Parts: sequence; structure tokens; C-alpha cells
Amino acid sequence: MLETITPRSASPFPLPELYSRVERHIPRIEWPLLAEDIAAILKLKREKNAVILAHNYQTPDIFHTVGDIVGDSLALAREAARTDADVIVLAGVHFMAETAKLLNPGKTVLIPDTRAGCSLAESITAADVRLMRARYPGVPIVTYVNTSAAVKAESDICCTSGNAKKIVEGLGVPKVIMIPDEYLALNIAAQTHVEIIAWKGHCEVHERFTPEDIRSLRESHPGVVVLAHPECPPDVVAEADFAGSTAAMADYVGTKRPPRVVLLTECSMSDNVALQYPDLEFVRPCNLCPHMKRITLKNIRHALETMTHEVTVAPEIAGRARLAVERMLAIS
Ligand code: 13P
Ligand code: SF4
Repeated sequence: MLETITPRSASPFPLPELYSRVERHIPRIEWPLLAEDIAAILKLKREKNAVILAHNYQTPDIFHTVGDIVGDSLALAREAARTDADVIVLAGVHFMAETAKLLNPGKTVLIPDTRAGCSLAESITAADVRLMRARYPGVPIVTYVNTSAAVKAESDICCTSGNAKKIVEGLGVPKVIMIPDEYLALNIAAQTHVEIIAWKGHCEVHERFTPEDIRSLRESHPGVVVLAHPECPPDVVAEADFAGSTAAMADYVGTKRPPRVVLLTECSMSDNVALQYPDLEFVRPCNLCPHMKRITLKNIRHALETMTHEVTVAPEIAGRARLAVERMLAIS
């Protein structure tokens, strides 16, 4: 007698539309595990009326699947000010979550890992800023958003790498203090007549790029177009073909379509942009930001399940810090 066995139907491939966005980066075999967290996050977002703001340095599994608003720190700040969600999850670093909280005092802002810091934010304290003000009375203080709310509170106005020149020149004064990124300050000083007094903070990711890196890249990859973030040292920016914020680099790639390109910045940036432009060749020497990499699908899911870790800003700081951020948003 012949017995036939009907095979159990294999479970369907999960979230195929989302997988199509990242299939050139994530092997098919790894997807079902990631998809489980992604599906849970999408459900939690609906249940809690939450949005996820994801910085350009987040890994593609986050950036291209669960991020509702993606971009550079200026875009994230702008969109944080506009959202009508009740909960904001910041897939990025702590200063970005603090900025979102400053602009949304009544909303719940969550960061999935409280250790997601930034070497620039660590390089300066509120007391340092007060000392700078005492030393240069009457000189306005322009503070990069990569700082704590306490430092912003001591400042006149904030800036990002995307609007720094506009902010510095928009003040209409001959001299400004620009903190804490020395290289950003020097790179802006090279483009303006405004005198700039800098602080010696550096980004631990971008300070490692050198002009020699660019020369050897040009040798090994003829014709490569080199884009650099303005947190890179000025001698690196001088040898690059273009320097701009993470959003400006992505725009450059989208509009100019260089057939062979390298982004001198954090590794995930190239991964994210390369997924959008499969026809372009991305050369990928890069440096990892250990702080950005603390954010994962797993801890985003956990943040929404447990509503942790809530970001708060002390009221005596929040009002003044918010003003500095709002002044920036009003100009740019
Ligand atoms: P962007 O504002 O250019 O996204 O830069 C943020 C940052 O942390 C770069 O290191
Ligand atoms: Fe800070 Fe540099 Fe990391 Fe950006 S890349 S978050 S500036 S340490």
C-alpha cells in the first residue's frame, strides 16, 4: 500500500516588501530573525502612537525598515518639532534625543541605550562655556548640536554641520565663539570673513581620517569622488571634492551620481546610501561610531515594550536650551 505524505507548508517569507529595501545588504537567511523584531516594532509603534527618528549612521536594518523620519541632525530636530506622535524613539545618540525632548516637552522621548553618547558632547561642560563667555565678553556663542542641553543652555544659538555657515554669518557680527568642534569651526572659518574662536573638541570617528587616506584612495580607485564630513580635519576637507553634512553628502550622491564615490564618515552612511543607488560604486573605508552602534532593533523593541529609557531635561536648563535650538531653527 502506498502512503503519501503531504509536506507541511513552509511559513511564508516575512515582510517581503521591507526585505526588498535591504536585500543587497542583509542575507536572506538572516532576515526572518530581524523581521520578527521589525514586525513587533511596527505593531508597537501603532499601539503607542510612536515615531522613530533614525540618524543617517544607523544600520540599514533600522534605517530602511523602522525609521519614520531619517536624516541628519538638522532634519531630525526639524521633524521632531513637527511630529504629532505621543512617543518619539531616537535611533541615534543622546544629544539628539535631548534635542527632541527640548522641542517636545510634553511628549515621551525614549533612547534605546543611555550609553549612546558622543565624544564632542563629552568634550565640554556648561562651566567651560561660562568661562568662555567671561573671557570674550559680548562675543556670541554658537554651539554645535552635538552637546548636552546644559551646554546649549549657556549658548546664544545652536548650529548643525548643515547650517553652521548660515548661522555664523546670520548673526551679523565680526567675531563668534564656535564650540565644541575645533575642526568644524576651522572648516567654517575657511569659508567666511567672520572671525571664529574655537574649542578643542573632536569627533573620535572623523578625526581619524587623514589626507594620506585620500591620496591612497585616489591611487587605488582612479576617478573616485571624495566626500567628507566637516567634522574631519581641515587638511582632509581641503583634499576632498566636497564637504557637507550627512544629508548634504547623500544629496550630492543623488544629484551628481558620481560613478565611483567614497564618503569619509561613519560606515553605515555608505551602506544606507548605497542601497538607494545600486548603479554607483561605493568605495568603503570608514570608521565606526561606537555610540551610534549601541542602537539595535532589539533595544528599540525593548524601549517601546517597556517605555524606557525616558529622556528628561531639568526645567532650569530646558527653557534656555530650547531657545538656543529654536533660534537655529528660525534661521535655517
Ligand atoms: P550630521 O548633522 O551631519 O548628520 O552629523 C551628525 C554627527 O554626529 C556627525 O558625526
Ligand atoms: Fe559624535 Fe562623532 Fe559619533 Fe557623530 S560620529 S555621534 S560626532 S562621536
